[in-house]
Amino acid sequence: MTAFAFEPTPTPVSVSDRAAMLADPGFGRVFTDHMAVVRYSADAGWHDAKIVARAPLTVDPATAVLHYAQEIFEGLKAYALDDGGIALFRPDANAARFRASAERMAMAHLPEELFVESCRQLVLADRDWIPAIDGGALYLRPFMIASEVFLGVKPASEYLYCVLASSVGAYWKGGARAVSLWVSHDYTRAAPGGTGEAKCGGNYAASLVAQSEAVKRGHDQVVFLDAAERRWIEELGGMNIFFVMADGSLVTPPLTGTILPGITRASLIQLARDEGLVVREEMYSIDQWRADAESGALAESFACGTAAVVTPIGKVAGPDYAFTIGSGGTGQTTARLLQRLSDLQRGRAPDPHGWLQRIA
Ligand code: PLP
Ligand code: COI
Repeated sequence: MTAFAFEPTPTPVSVSDRAAMLADPGFGRVFTDHMAVVRYSADAGWHDAKIVARAPLTVDPATAVLHYAQEIFEGLKAYALDDGGIALFRPDANAARFRASAERMAMAHLPEELFVESCRQLVLADRDWIPAIDGGALYLRPFMIASEVFLGVKPASEYLYCVLASSVGAYWKGGARAVSLWVSHDYTRAAPGGTGEAKCGGNYAASLVAQSEAVKRGHDQVVFLDAAERRWIEELGGMNIFFVMADGSLVTPPLTGTILPGITRASLIQLARDEGLVVREEMYSIDQWRADAESGALAESFACGTAAVVTPIGKVAGPDYAFTIGSGGTGQTTARLLQRLSDLQRGRAPDPHGWLQRIA
């Protein structure tokens, strides 16, 4: 196991300032005192692992990532348990996905145990930053950039891996509520053979114009359709999607290479099957979604991801149509799966699959 040197910040945020920052942190704006950093070079391999004061990075303007976007990231949460302990949720799954993303982007492979250890050490250093509010957690953002200073187009030979920690509450402004989606028929997020199943920054850059359009039209999030036929529902800008049919079965788009293999998605498939529900990973078209919502064959829909957990979908619109899901609020199955997942993540329910990794 690589040892992380710990260089504590000489200027930690004061207890009273921290308490004020943690009262209503929202998502992704409040950062902790420290960060984890590990460097890679083709000659030295992974080296110089440390937990240091969170500070700006100094990069040369010719650093490869600034030009060719060789960058990947992850998102996972550390939860405070009722007994005073702390746990990470499925960090090994994030480590494996990070490795797969690195492979797709021709980047250095970070050993999975180094990924998990970096998260563990950072959370232990900043454990006082987990907000004690409903839905509060420490959101970890591991990422890796091509740090070689070189303008040639080739996989870099130097990388910087870093983990940030952000104290978070609800992802959505205004707290948990059913969201409204805009279906983009103009823009796609990923195509077969592309980078859709990698968690690389470029996928998000490509999604922003569609997301802005959704917001301009008064919606919360964009839904992407497949690039080839513009017909099959893929996912949202930062979440996977599930459909709950009136017969109680669940449908979610299959992992065909163009959508992110969400860890929340995989966990919910398992939890639903544990309950005896039928879950089908199959293609579902926008026309079918609309027809099923209108006929009542579809009862609920929800989005899911680490940041958004389980979020009910109330309304859906496209260029010349709009429909409401169920009553437009939170459906029963959605509410139950959210409760089950949140209880498990906070150690309030059994963890039969061993998903919680206790670190304190
Ligand atoms: N899809 C996209 C595009 C995402 O950015 C995310 C968030 O990480 C997800 C799905 C959900 O993945 P996970 O449940 O692993 O957070
Ligand atoms: C996550 O849920 O971890 C995400 O990455 C979604 C978004 C914040 C990019």
